[in-house]
Amino acid sequence: MTRPGAPRARSRSDLRRQRRPHSHRCWDHLLLAPLWPEHDANLGTLLRTCDAVGACLVVPRAAWVRRAVAKGNTLRRRSCVHRVSDPLRWLEAQGRAGTRLLAVELADDAIRLGDLPAARQRTVVLLGNERDGVPPDALALVDEVVEIPMIGTGLSLNVAVAGSLVAYKLAGML
Ligand SMILES: C[S@@+](CC[C@H](N)C(=O)[O-])C[C@H]1O[C@@H](n2cnc3c(N)ncnc32)[C@H](O)[C@@H]1O
Repeated sequence: MTRPGAPRARSRSDLRRQRRPHSHRCWDHLLLAPLWPEHDANLGTLLRTCDAVGACLVVPRAAWVRRAVAKGNTLRRRSCVHRVSDPLRWLEAQGRAGTRLLAVELADDAIRLGDLPAARQRTVVLLGNERDGVPPDALALVDEVVEIPMIGTGLSLNVAVAGSLVAYKLAGML
């Protein structure tokens, strides 16, 4: 028997009623950019996070990436995905246009996640390759780096987990 006052998980139909009936247009404010991806599954996970926080996903223009995003897209509605042909040139252009470039990386002088305020301007959130991280020539272009503190024995987090934590913080939803 259920204890009176016990928490009740919302049903799928409750959730459906509470969610947007249609996708929102491209807000172009937070752009989560795994520009050097290697694993399909991370792109699908990041796409769901983008949907949850109202961000866009930016991926390299490649056939396998298109397939990976389509496969990982388990959402009911179309999501906002931008495709770029040349990640470094795209990043340079974003910086020149006044967009804030924030890398999510383990780096000296990084801001700790807890100290990262919500994004008040258009922000590109750069995520590194699963093994090699953010390439040095891309890191040289960014305005700031954010690091998620860790106290275990692992060297780093999964890139989709790291990107999701930062996206929630920048969206002001944590
Ligand atoms: C597995 S890590 C690669 C880590 C590392 N730079 C390397 O070369 O071994 C993949 C990506 O996840 C993100 N990441 C993982 N853990 C992180 C953390 N604790 N703080 C910030 N970013 C992290 C970064 O974007 C990183 O480039």
